[in-house]
Amino acid sequence: SLPVPSVQEIVRKDPNCVPERYIRGQIKRDEISELPELHIPVIDFSKLSGGDEAELNKLDLACKDWGFFQIVHHGISEDVLYRVRNAMAAFFDLPIEEKKRYAMADNDLQGYGQAYVVSAEQKLDWNDLVYLMTEPIRRRSYRYWPTTVRDFKDALTTYSDQAKRVAMQLLSHLSLLMNMNREGLLNLHGEMGLGMRLNYYPACSRPDEVMGVSPHSDGSSITILWQDEDIAGLQIKHEGEWIPVEPIPHALVVNIGDAIEAWSNGIYQSIEHRAVTNERKSRMSLATFVIPDENAEIGPLQQMLDATLLPKMYRNVKYLDYIRYTLARKMEGKAHTHLL
Ligand code: SIN
Ligand code: FE2
Repeated sequence: SLPVPSVQEIVRKDPNCVPERYIRGQIKRDEISELPELHIPVIDFSKLSGGDEAELNKLDLACKDWGFFQIVHHGISEDVLYRVRNAMAAFFDLPIEEKKRYAMADNDLQGYGQAYVVSAEQKLDWNDLVYLMTEPIRRRSYRYWPTTVRDFKDALTTYSDQAKRVAMQLLSHLSLLMNMNREGLLNLHGEMGLGMRLNYYPACSRPDEVMGVSPHSDGSSITILWQDEDIAGLQIKHEGEWIPVEPIPHALVVNIGDAIEAWSNGIYQSIEHRAVTNERKSRMSLATFVIPDENAEIGPLQQMLDATLLPKMYRNVKYLDYIRYTLARKMEGKAHTHLL
């Protein structure tokens, strides 16, 4: 991969500077939906846990019609959310020399840096990030966990434990909806992994020409996203239009990833999404990718084929091969899938 400068550092030196490699031409005004009343569904997680059939049905429709939804009453306390938010903010606030101590090494996916870049011509995203695996525990590379921010390790570990609980509960509800027993999806994962992507998007003086994260779908089974509550940026492709996901304080955004799309034979879709920038304020988000084991098998489940009587839409592949395949597609510039 090729070295890319920190966008936060570009803006720190000159708030009006937007280098050519970030400029894509007009991308926003003419594309965003004119229907501001359109919102992704909001699911009450405590009702799901209580066995509420109507809420489970709502979850099913959310996955079918949107692939994206927000969850409230998920049981992750405000304190846990604020602590991890503050730890992220404190890290990105450090001088660049200090952050570089945690820079992603060559051929590593974890650490501080920018998204994978494959060519010198490729347009760059207006985004700095830290990527850390938190599960399974032996995959943690503590060399990349900033010790300069004193609460970082505790705050991230606590959040990760809670996100894991939410993920497992979600997988159990989705298993029922996919005609399996509660453990069905979890078992299909093999050893479940969690990857955390900490995102920082500086304010941008030319927001209509720059992309925070370019359009992609997630290679995960599900993704759980915490996003800054006072500034929007995430948009999803819904019926041909980009729909903004308005932040709800203390809610989490959940989306179906490529693995569940394949297991469900496309009944639940892994929806294309992107993050845009704004002129006013920097924005942060924290994406938790729930990831199957490398040896897990990805492909339509017989239960889903039986229930829908639809033809099989996906080949069965090993998750590792799937990731390699999407990487190859990305190299050819045809797709943009998060590999995490
Ligand atoms: C992403 O899903 O890749 C972007 C998340 C965000 O910053 O809202
Ligand atoms: Fe994503």
